[in-house]
Amino acid sequence: MRFNQRERGFTLWFTGLSGAGKTTIAEIVEKELRERGRRVEVLDGDIVRTNLSKGLGFSREDRITNVLRIGFVANLLTRNGVAVIVSAISPYKEARDQVRRRIIDFIEVYVDAPLEVCAERDVKGLYKKAFEGEIENFTGVSDPYEPPVAPELHIRTDQETPQESARRVIERLEYLGYLW
Ligand code: PPS
Ligand code: MG
Repeated sequence: MRFNQRERGFTLWFTGLSGAGKTTIAEIVEKELRERGRRVEVLDGDIVRTNLSKGLGFSREDRITNVLRIGFVANLLTRNGVAVIVSAISPYKEARDQVRRRIIDFIEVYVDAPLEVCAERDVKGLYKKAFEGEIENFTGVSDPYEPPVAPELHIRTDQETPQESARRVIERLEYLGYLW
């Protein structure tokens, strides 16, 4: 049976600092994809950590385990034609690249905003706590973030609205032949 191109799966992988806008953009893109009749699954770090990765912390080892688990599930879905959206800090390049090697249709989106902007937004109040030393290993403050070197898309959320960012994601999917 020929593979229906309309069902061509992919993994859209949003990586970036806490508060950069990963979840927000993922939600807008999710809605748009559903409106276009796609089957969509979102794997968000905050949610994954309440079930699939329950019990994991924020050490290097645990973050890598978390990212590889998300990548494992994303691959299963992708190869069955699902549009998968991942929003996880995924700070280590090596872990992201490992996932990239496993998922053929992998689209890395760097959701980029300067640390100062993320800390200023401080949507969850986590930066304040991190700067006061109440949270250890906080990404960008007391833990590393390794930016993507060659992402399929680089979004600057301090320079455009979430709607504009989401539009650029959709356009990139069209350009790459996953949507039309
Ligand atoms: S990772 O690094 O990919 O495993 O992280 P992820 O699964 O995306 O989880 C990030 C969310 O956890 C909250 N949180 C922290 N983030 C970073 N560092 C520390 N120490 C930390 N502690 C809790 C925070 O809500 C992150 O969500 P986002 O949406 O990125 O802000
Ligand atoms: Mg989030």
